[in-house]
Amino acid sequence: MESTVQKRGKRREDGLGTAVDFLLANARLVLGVGGAAMLGIATLAVKRLMDRAGGPADGDEKPDQKSITESWEELGLVGASPKLLRKELESAVMKATSTPIKMVKRQDSKQSATVKSPKLKLKKVQLILTLQEKILQYHQTHVTAAAEELSRVKQQATAICTEMQQFFRNKHPDVPLGEMNLGGSLFHDLQVTTVSHVCLLLPLSIEEKLWNFIPGDQTILNIPQLWLVRRTSLEYFPRGSSYWDRFTVGGYLSSKLVNDTLYKTVMELMNWPSIGSMLDCIIRPVMGNRELKLEVQKEQRQLFINILPTITMNNTVLILQERENDGFENLWCQSFYTAENTKLQDLDTSDQGFRRCCLKIFKAICKGNPALKKLTSSHLANTILHLSDAESGWTETDLADRFQQIVRTLVGYLEEGFLPSYFNASVNLLSDLSEEDIDEIGYTLYCASCDPDFLLQR
Ligand SMILES: *[C@@H]1O[C@H](CO)[C@@H](O)[C@H](O)[C@H]1NC(C)=O
Ligand SMILES: *[C@@H]1O[C@H](CO)[C@@H](O)[C@H](O)[C@H]1NC(C)=O
Ligand SMILES: *[C@@H]1O[C@H](CO)[C@@H](O)[C@H](O)[C@H]1NC(C)=O
Repeated sequence: MESTVQKRGKRREDGLGTAVDFLLANARLVLGVGGAAMLGIATLAVKRLMDRAGGPADGDEKPDQKSITESWEELGLVGASPKLLRKELESAVMKATSTPIKMVKRQDSKQSATVKSPKLKLKKVQLILTLQEKILQYHQTHVTAAAEELSRVKQQATAICTEMQQFFRNKHPDVPLGEMNLGGSLFHDLQVTTVSHVCLLLPLSIEEKLWNFIPGDQTILNIPQLWLVRRTSLEYFPRGSSYWDRFTVGGYLSSKLVNDTLYKTVMELMNWPSIGSMLDCIIRPVMGNRELKLEVQKEQRQLFINILPTITMNNTVLILQERENDGFENLWCQSFYTAENTKLQDLDTSDQGFRRCCLKIFKAICKGNPALKKLTSSHLANTILHLSDAESGWTETDLADRFQQIVRTLVGYLEEGFLPSYFNASVNLLSDLSEEDIDEIGYTLYCASCDPDFLLQR
């Protein structure tokens, strides 16, 4: 049986890891509910730290209450304010995760000293630029796209869109389609650095009196974002009254059948080589893909055009979109894209705000950081919209505060595994991500919440 002293000795060997462990064991009590979200992710950070360092010295042994108290005393934390505690915890985790393992092990006495006097450490890290200045600098170097590149791509995509509209008008005039248009960040002034993707929206015109949209929560699958489109009024308007009747299965408009036909028409029947040579570029349908996608090449530059068939009724926009393994062939995915961007734009216009600037900065950050690649523009936009309800200051001088708040808010959503859509709280925008993805993103952002600079270094 080991004595408490021995145990404590062992813990000392484990150095910083143990200190953080104790902080975590108690911080939940001290910080209360408000800090719980942060701490969950912090726990993960510490777990990883332990794993990297080869596991805690005293494995699954639970420290008893007495030794915890002693350790708190050792660390000089008894009676510390929750704010200070959180600071300590954060800087300890950051320090640990950014220090090579061997150093963590050897320099335990030094490390404990660091934990003991975080104020000293913070002073040393005082930087020449303020966070706001760094964000603005990042915006300039990593976000702003070259204007001529943007207009070149816009022109190219518009020409292709026009060709497609012409093709349907001339060769398939019976297909009821609305005006095709281009979407995506390029067309909403949300483009970040180089343009790689553009969306071409292909609106299918459906008769309002013949079709009903069934919300996801009223279908067997019960995924709020996945809707069904049901044929109605068959007694007055028999089958065949609508062009789209040929694409129904069991009374529902089948996204699969619509896709199969459009896929064949756009990808196989359109003469892309000849359209390409006319537009002075090479256009290739990207085959073997579940999406309708074109690759456009001119000189060394490559652009992908995603073609998205959409149906809209009563302000509900549904798109034909690939969802992994849903196994259902009639489902249509609700899109809030336009609503999100319109709302952000309106808010920014009303107060000269920097919300969209924030969105672009985070888009660039996620694009450049492999651990954050799965965080989409929609996750970011919705986080900013939620935060806009709580915060009214979105001017340039608020940039640093909002930046940090966005990171923390995201960490909170990831911790819960639920990011409600701004336009429909029952839709969880994280439902597409695996648990591992969520952990990975949460961990990275947690580190960033302690040290926001790290997101801006590239
Ligand atoms: C649109 O709204 C009207 C009236 O609110 C309703 O009767 C109709 O079923 C709705 N359409 C769809 C596609 O849900
Ligand atoms: C929100 O989603 C739920 C679940 O699919 C649905 O019942 C409801 O109609 C949706 N609300 C809006 C405004 O789209
Ligand atoms: C669309 O149809 C094509 C061709 O049949 C298929 O390869 C592709 O996977 C389909 N995509 C979706 C989303 O169903």
